[in-house]
Amino acid sequence: MNKLSKTLLRSEKFPTPAIWIMRQAGRYLPEYRELRSKEKNFLEFCYNPQTACEATLQPIRRFDFDAAIIFSDILVVPDAMGIGVEFVKNEGPKLQKISKISEIKNRDASSVEKKLSNVYEAVALTKSRLDADKDLIGFAGAPFTLACYIVEGGGSKNFEETRRVAIENEKFFAELIEILTEFVVEHLSQQINAGATVVQLFDSWAGILPPQQLQKLVINPAKKIAAELKKKYPSVPLICFPRCIGVNYENFVHEVNPHGIAIDQNVEINWARERLLGAVVQGNLDNFLLAFGSKNEIEKEVKKILETFSDRHFVFNLGHGILPETPIENVQLVIDLVRGVK
Ligand code: CP3
Repeated sequence: MNKLSKTLLRSEKFPTPAIWIMRQAGRYLPEYRELRSKEKNFLEFCYNPQTACEATLQPIRRFDFDAAIIFSDILVVPDAMGIGVEFVKNEGPKLQKISKISEIKNRDASSVEKKLSNVYEAVALTKSRLDADKDLIGFAGAPFTLACYIVEGGGSKNFEETRRVAIENEKFFAELIEILTEFVVEHLSQQINAGATVVQLFDSWAGILPPQQLQKLVINPAKKIAAELKKKYPSVPLICFPRCIGVNYENFVHEVNPHGIAIDQNVEINWARERLLGAVVQGNLDNFLLAFGSKNEIEKEVKKILETFSDRHFVFNLGHGILPETPIENVQLVIDLVRGVK
């Protein structure tokens, strides 16, 4: 059936929308915590095709989502560039901080084929074990979000150093974005070659930029990535997720022209329905409501989203990744509501 890709390509309209959930494999699932406890090092866990495949399939077995998303992380790309990446327990990712292009050991994007071969092996293995009617989503962090982690040397609340460097050292930042753009195209291409049938670009921190920088550092690179992928793989849909860019979503869709546009929970859905006509909308149930809301509140919100997009091609998802605290029965409730069995 491949409900997700057909919806994104608008080649078929189904009675109920396709559904998957960002971070659907993860700590809210007991079977994930069990599997994860066997490997200390998170990157090793991602780079083991067997464990990555198993983690990818867990949420499909439990919930029968319409698509699996390959278990990996956006930071495998800086890792492949020779920028040290480490996941410190309870602290999140730590990276070697980069302030000059010459500090990046590997700038050859074609090297990912070898350096990230375990990821592509995981994609191929998962594909071989996944029902043929399910889509397999490959993904990458967008250049700007990757640059945030690389310049900051890890995660941050507001990425203030990134904001400073992007202004003070504009040339370095532009060059970094350019290199990352090549790596992202290559990484997504390799996942498609290995069997991914849909790809998503995560630009988690796009929302911290004012319009002019948004154009240069988020929209232009996404435009390039979308154009290259469309040329190479015209039948593989691309979903873009430039998180929290507010009214700029309209211009993003207009300029980048992706198949799907993932919207965060701050976007008013009637606005999205009226203004985001160029791409299939994906979203945008509040991940905090799903974790901490009452069944009634969740039901009300899910129904509002479903009604708003009932006559459109639409993909149901959250506005951001599912939280580890989320009760499993809330996820099941959402699926039942979306599929119309409740
Ligand atoms: O199921 C899926 O969605 C596929 C797997 C996936 C992971 N990370 C696994 C993961 C995906 C798509 C990502 C994307 C990702 N990673 C993003 C973009 C999306 C977003 O949420 O904004 C970002 C910014 C990262 C970087 C990252 N990875 C951080 C900041 C952290 C630590 C914070 C945290 O949530 O723990 C990670 C670790 C990570 N990536 C985990 C998982 C399941 C948790 C690690 C663990 O299991 O111990």
